[in-house]
Amino acid sequence: MLILGIESSCDETGAAVIKGNKNSESVFLLSNVVATSLAMHSTTGGIIPENAAREQVKFIIPVISDALDKAGIKPQDLDAIAVTHGPGLIGSLLIGVETAKTLSYVWNKPLIPTNHLIGHLYANWIDQTPELPAIGLIVSGGHTDLVLIKQHEKLEWLGGTRDDAAGEALDKIGRLLGLPYPGGPNIEKRAKEGDQKKYNFPTPLNDSSFDFSFSGLKSAVFREVIDKKLSEQTVNDICANVQKVIIGILIKKTLKATEKYGVKSIILGGGVAANQTLRNKLGSSLDSKLPGVKLFVPEKYLCTDNAAMIATAAFYNHQVVNWKKVDADPGLYF
Ligand code: KG4
Ligand code: ZN
Repeated sequence: MLILGIESSCDETGAAVIKGNKNSESVFLLSNVVATSLAMHSTTGGIIPENAAREQVKFIIPVISDALDKAGIKPQDLDAIAVTHGPGLIGSLLIGVETAKTLSYVWNKPLIPTNHLIGHLYANWIDQTPELPAIGLIVSGGHTDLVLIKQHEKLEWLGGTRDDAAGEALDKIGRLLGLPYPGGPNIEKRAKEGDQKKYNFPTPLNDSSFDFSFSGLKSAVFREVIDKKLSEQTVNDICANVQKVIIGILIKKTLKATEKYGVKSIILGGGVAANQTLRNKLGSSLDSKLPGVKLFVPEKYLCTDNAAMIATAAFYNHQVVNWKKVDADPGLYF
């Protein structure tokens, strides 16, 4: 089965072709093309939705055409088209959704509207096969959620952030510290040179729920740095402590859910899952506390937004919807 995936929920424009075989447990990537307007957003310190949507319009057709060419297939070879229909920025989402609807009509191919968050989790089924049931941790710029995946198409939401997402907190703290956008990878870089013991920022919502909260941490950093001229080393030390606090609570609650539901695997998804310290620390905590459980993480380039994960999610959760009934839904959740 050949699926063309289309992703345009934020500032990345993605198209990918995957090959899935009903008897095989994972899918194979034939092509994965991503164009990003990230550089433009670093000049404004964050994403201005109108700018992101305008860039999507420029990229969408070339990216789809490139993905088909790189996969060496023609539109008529496709079995289906999958598109992110939410959540995301409405202007950005509309570009992908309306393009996918048009192609579905013109090429006469089934259309599979796909949830971006579920897509992040399914990046784990590209070239690997997590055993179910699994706990999924989605950590991106827009979301922080813990879900129980009992089987394909059966996801139960366990908890999520009550305010900022983990990536959003990293981006905003990065901005407070004068680091370039996006904050996540820059904080990771600076944290390597820092001493995490020099600061002691509060651990947010350190309770027995599966919810998260990161806005208080952001405010604590704000109070610490306001009206101060920060040395390079101070910035490194703050980054080290902030990263430790965020990773610490993510791991604590993920392990708690893993133990409670007795799952076989943990799967990570979303841009923050590209963080090497999170990947390493979660792996080592699992080895020492729950040795029978296996950790799955996507390749780093599949953690941030891409269309391969959308096509893969559609392969395992294939619900074809007539193109006339598909709409962008910016507030889509689980
Ligand atoms: O999944 P994604 O590409 O977009 C959303 O769906 O939101 O995630 C983007 C987020 C940004 O907040 C960025 O700072 C964060 O992922 N991020 C990282 C790293 N790489 C990207 N956070 C921590 N460490 C990284 N290496
Ligand atoms: Zn995302």
